[in-house]
Amino acid sequence: MSDSTQPTLDNLLSEERTFPPSAEFAARSNAHAEIYSWAASDRLSFWAEQARAMLDWSTPFTQVLDWSDAPVARWFADGRLNACENAVDRHVAAGRGDRVALLFEGEPGDTREITYADLQREVSKAANALQTLGVGTGDRVAIYLPMIPEAVVAMLACARIGAVHSVVFGGFSAEALRSRIDDAEASLVITADGGYRRGNPSALKPAVDEALAPGDEHDACRTVQHVLVVRRTGQAVDWVEGRDVWWHEAVGAASDQHTPVQVEAEHPLFILYTSGTTGKPKGIFHTTGGYLTQAAYTHLNVFDLKPETDVYWCTADIGWITGHSYVTYGPLVNGATQVIYEGTPDTPHQGRWWDIVQKYRVSILYTAPTAIRTFMKWGEQIPAGYDLSSLRVLGSVGEPINPEAWMWYRRVIGGDRAPIVDTWWQTETGAIMISPLPGITATKPGSAQAPLPGISAEVVDEMAEPVPNGSGGYLVLTEPWPSMLRGIWGDPQRFRDTYWSRFPGLYFAGDGAKKDADGDIWLLGRVDDVMNVSGHRLSTTEIESALVSHPMVAEAAVVGAADQTTGQAVVAFVILRAEFRDRIDEVGEGGDVAAELRAHVTKEIGPIAKPRTILVVPELPKTRSGKIMRRLLRDVAEHRTVGDVTTLADSSVMGQIAAGLGSS
Ligand code: WT7
Repeated sequence: MSDSTQPTLDNLLSEERTFPPSAEFAARSNAHAEIYSWAASDRLSFWAEQARAMLDWSTPFTQVLDWSDAPVARWFADGRLNACENAVDRHVAAGRGDRVALLFEGEPGDTREITYADLQREVSKAANALQTLGVGTGDRVAIYLPMIPEAVVAMLACARIGAVHSVVFGGFSAEALRSRIDDAEASLVITADGGYRRGNPSALKPAVDEALAPGDEHDACRTVQHVLVVRRTGQAVDWVEGRDVWWHEAVGAASDQHTPVQVEAEHPLFILYTSGTTGKPKGIFHTTGGYLTQAAYTHLNVFDLKPETDVYWCTADIGWITGHSYVTYGPLVNGATQVIYEGTPDTPHQGRWWDIVQKYRVSILYTAPTAIRTFMKWGEQIPAGYDLSSLRVLGSVGEPINPEAWMWYRRVIGGDRAPIVDTWWQTETGAIMISPLPGITATKPGSAQAPLPGISAEVVDEMAEPVPNGSGGYLVLTEPWPSMLRGIWGDPQRFRDTYWSRFPGLYFAGDGAKKDADGDIWLLGRVDDVMNVSGHRLSTTEIESALVSHPMVAEAAVVGAADQTTGQAVVAFVILRAEFRDRIDEVGEGGDVAAELRAHVTKEIGPIAKPRTILVVPELPKTRSGKIMRRLLRDVAEHRTVGDVTTLADSSVMGQIAAGLGSS
């Protein structure tokens, strides 16, 4: 197979290159090899120690884990704390108020430097403003913002008053925003007029207006009392009197003194929606004490953070879990100095990221394989034009990193010097679970390798038995961990069904994995109907529902096909309704029908879900029980010989599909 993004078993198990840390790196490492045996010898006291070391507690906990209501865990349950106080105030109290927390780089080139003392004033003002707008402890707040400092401030302000934030990625459509506001019954939406995208202002507020427009099928307009609007681009906005409030007015006028609300360790901190195998996104919810403990512990050790000297940059948007754990909470709890960048990597030129690394002397960079593969495509002469010598740790997250991209990242970006940590985790796990430790592990291109100290993972077969080295199976987590999801918002049964029913007593991650000859873990991608496009999780069913909601479409099947840059790409097979079949000739690259359906998916979900390819077919391959055989469609989408068709209800269907596709 020519596609290098899909490692085969053979090349996986023959990977012999390893890269141990240099002696200097190892000598200065935050973590030492004994941490593994320490954690293994007494997991719970290890986590209790981390919770005390990482966080300030207003009421110290005496219980570590309560698993009596499994699979809902309670960690450090009798302790009390405040997340924002841990991320901000305590650094100021300890005399670190002058340290820079955020180095903001806007896409147009505007910059802001925000110290921990500045951040304390800002979050205090925002917290006061939220309370004035009627937001109380436990209320839900939807945040729909570009990647600007206010996004971090808004999250922290919610945490400060014990409100539950639900960040919705700014690239999601009004429709997607509305369903998330509805599900969480948010009382406030925080948004902006717009943000900068590829050199131009890109509006956000209209999507909020549309999401909140009165209608009978939804109740967002019932629960939402106010919309707080940050002025970022200065573009014109529609204004609903009595509902809409400018951030600069409400927050600007508020007092900068605010006492953080102490909450129980198990108080909900946030909800974050992610795609599952059904059409409806799941509201993954996380609580306070355990989540913060593991976010901070992993951030400190996986990136070997030295808060006094490092400049850390995670390129994720706060709309994803990576932005929650490794932009807002982990780094700030650890008192790090970090860069946040608003825009895209190619605005105004393809060297923008490397310019930022050079300008701020970034020492730790955390990004996704899809970005690395894009830079490979653009050519190494681009990063070669910048001084990247400040980089000392490189991280990867979101999808499997193919060994070729890993080697390029190490050589071209890391100067053959900086260790790479390939970190496996999920929205549900809250924080990194499987990863090398850069001062300890001899890293291996393409493998996330081993569970972190305190974490228990396995690769099992269908019978839930661990597979031997050299074999593949399903990735499971075998012991509860502090930052684990506490459930799916409003749907406890779905929580049990999705994660805990396939292998009773074990958390089923939905990923296929293998153990190599050394017992190192290789992640191989999803085994369910979830796709991974550019490190973003998309549900085949959700996109299918979007397609069939279009009047032209009778039936749709979506698969993730291997893609050189994005890892997977969305390929849709659609059957048109009879009355539209005469438009079939308009389909094809650039055809009207395909364009119309792409625009429809963009409207229903957002541009990230837009199919790369839409193929109009006469039939879909189904089993006798009516289940669509996506495996066969994937063969077509990846231009392979179609596999075993014996279980098809009508074995001629694949022939019809192939005939209809003609030359494609
Ligand atoms: C899925 C979770 C974790 C933050 C970003 C994605 C895939 C994630 C890796 C990795 C191979 C990975 C898995 C996982 N994934 N990291 N290092 N190697 N695959 O969070 O949207 O919740 O998606 O991303 O398939 O299940 P998410």
